[in-house]
Amino acid sequence: MKSWALVVLLCLGYGLLTSSLQARPMWSNLILTHHWPSTFCSVQHCHSTFDYWTLHGLWPNLGQECNSSWHFNETLIQDLLPDMNKSWPDLKKPGSSKFWKYEWQKHGTCAAKAESLNSQHKYFDKALELYHKLDLDGVLKSVNIVPSETYYMFDHIEGKGENFQILGQIEICFNSDFQLDDCVHDETDTVTLTDFLNVKGTGFRVCDHSKPVYYPPLKGKPSM
Ligand SMILES: *[C@@H]1O[C@H](CO)[C@@H](O)[C@H](O)[C@H]1NC(C)=O
Ligand SMILES: *[C@@H]1O[C@H](CO)[C@@H](O)[C@H](O)[C@H]1NC(C)=O
Ligand SMILES: *[C@@H]1O[C@H](CO)[C@@H](O)[C@H](O)[C@H]1NC(C)=O
Repeated sequence: MKSWALVVLLCLGYGLLTSSLQARPMWSNLILTHHWPSTFCSVQHCHSTFDYWTLHGLWPNLGQECNSSWHFNETLIQDLLPDMNKSWPDLKKPGSSKFWKYEWQKHGTCAAKAESLNSQHKYFDKALELYHKLDLDGVLKSVNIVPSETYYMFDHIEGKGENFQILGQIEICFNSDFQLDDCVHDETDTVTLTDFLNVKGTGFRVCDHSKPVYYPPLKGKPSM
């Protein structure tokens, strides 16, 4: 399946990533990141009611926090809020705009270096558009990849952290014309994830293809 070349699967694993953040001029790729609420909440101790892949962010491959004086303003994306609530929820605090503010300051202000994304409305609207166009849930279901309890053994989570991995994030790459792009992902860039999760000694890393993957269903809800 050729399309899988475009996808980077990130798993929750153990180990720290090193940071390599530098201010660099203009980005060439955008990474649309999705997270799996069950996995996110298992780390963050939140209670998710979302049983689909939600948006994490739209990240340019270069730069972070490019303009600290360009403040997030929810009024500017008023018309997008119903969709933002549903597709890009703050999993720790649904209904809050804190997560959007964070993503705007960290990534949006850098994405905005391109004319096509040089306003808050353009940035959030484009992220939502790409998210819906991609329809990750639909794509995964269509190839029969669904959340499952099958591989769930809690003992392993606590005692044998090295022997399995939990699917937590999927990143899809686009070029500056918003076409899918087969970009090579620099593993050190994934520091942005641990940054957000901010959990000591635990973080996402690129999935190890030789280990079994657990794709956890929403707790208390039978899958399929
Ligand atoms: C930063 O954002 C402010 C507010 O939108 C804008 O006036 C300023 O030109 C921006 N600075 C840069 C370097 O883009
Ligand atoms: C947010 O944007 C609206 C609409 O442009 C503007 O009226 C308002 O002053 C802005 N709020 C802040 C805090 O900048
Ligand atoms: C977004 O969700 C919050 C909390 O769930 C709700 O209070 C708010 O009205 C919603 N906004 C829109 C525009 O749907």
